Amino acid sequence: MKIAVLAGDGIGPEVTREAVRVLEALGLAGLELVEGDVGGMAYKKHGHPLPAATLDLARASDGILFGAVGDPDCDNLERHLRPEQAILGLRKELGLFANLRPARVFAGLEDFSALRPEVAGAIDLLIVRELNGDVYFGEKGIRTLPDGRRQGWDMMSYAEDEVRRIAHVAFRAAQGRNGKLCSVDKANVLETFQLWRDVVTEVAAEYPDVELSHMYVDNAAMQLVRNPGQFDVVVTGNMFGDILSDQASMCVGSIGLLASASLSEGKLGLYEPIHGSAPDIAGKGLANPMATVLSAAMLLRHSLGMEDQAARIEAAVARALADGVRGADLGGSHGTALIGDAIVERL
Ligand code: NAD
Ligand code: IPM
Ligand code: MN
Repeated sequence: MKIAVLAGDGIGPEVTREAVRVLEALGLAGLELVEGDVGGMAYKKHGHPLPAATLDLARASDGILFGAVGDPDCDNLERHLRPEQAILGLRKELGLFANLRPARVFAGLEDFSALRPEVAGAIDLLIVRELNGDVYFGEKGIRTLPDGRRQGWDMMSYAEDEVRRIAHVAFRAAQGRNGKLCSVDKANVLETFQLWRDVVTEVAAEYPDVELSHMYVDNAAMQLVRNPGQFDVVVTGNMFGDILSDQASMCVGSIGLLASASLSEGKLGLYEPIHGSAPDIAGKGLANPMATVLSAAMLLRHSLGMEDQAARIEAAVARALADGVRGADLGGSHGTALIGDAIVERL
């Protein structure tokens, strides 16, 4: 079992180190961890944020543990050389179209939510975000109009097969949870999302046991803070899913807690926290590694079929939180390594 470890930039290496320690503490036989360069650090070393060697390593692995990419030094590079292109390139090249972003409130953490505890306590939802299409991957540019004004443009589109395959993932996820699926779109304004709604509705015929609803994304943003307990599985496009999942993280308590899995049709998956490289706290030992540790648990579950080991890690994180282990993001004084220690001890 070969795991590619792509730590990346900013707090990426700090949080990934703790996740690796947790994986090693499980003492699994035959687990090989191989590091690769990605993001701004790869650009600085090799002139490209996603070097061919890294892509090859990712392709040859059973699962990818990813930290974060993004470096303010690189914000003015041509777009194809920016660190963010590395994660977008991995998602596209490896066909990682299904992004699972679970959000639930850990017992005892209700008071840390940005919402009232009784509202937050009910959160247990899964955002299924499409990851290979939408405005992210359309043609784009900045051009000069005949009258001399500059215009930025990005083409939004979804082909029906792209909607259909993410819809199937979401319906199946709902079958394995509480049988409710809410599809979030903007069909009232965007043709792309009218097609989205039509295709999700067609796919629903194959899942009579799942209760499907549709919601416009603006309302969904509001409902997510008004009454997040109403959601079970939410399926949405690339950009709406990006935004709603950061919002969901604060409903749970911190962006340092939300893990994700990016899955393909096969077994290969990429696992990363939903947060970025956090340049504002990088190098200070302040980052909460729990989101990355929980992502490693998702790797064991989805790519290696080790449900028991995944559950062990999740239980250790939940236990650490219940015991009062809190990073600065949760108003506590535990640094990155201390949180890692606390999780390893509980394993
Ligand atoms: P960010 O998620 O990096 O940080 C947002 C805020 O949350 C910051 O105040 C940060 O300190 C805090 N935060 C994030 N993770 C934390 C953690 N584990 N513990 C404690 N606090 C944490 O978002 P940003 O500031 O908008 O972006 C910074 C860079 O990261 C940008 O270059 C962006 O493009 C990139 N980014 C990368 C990914 C990825 O690699 N998948 C995801 C999001 C953003
Ligand atoms: C995420 C990030 C990425 C995205 C960026 C860094 C390309 O925000 O993984 O949530 O927008 O998908
Ligand atoms: Mn994001």
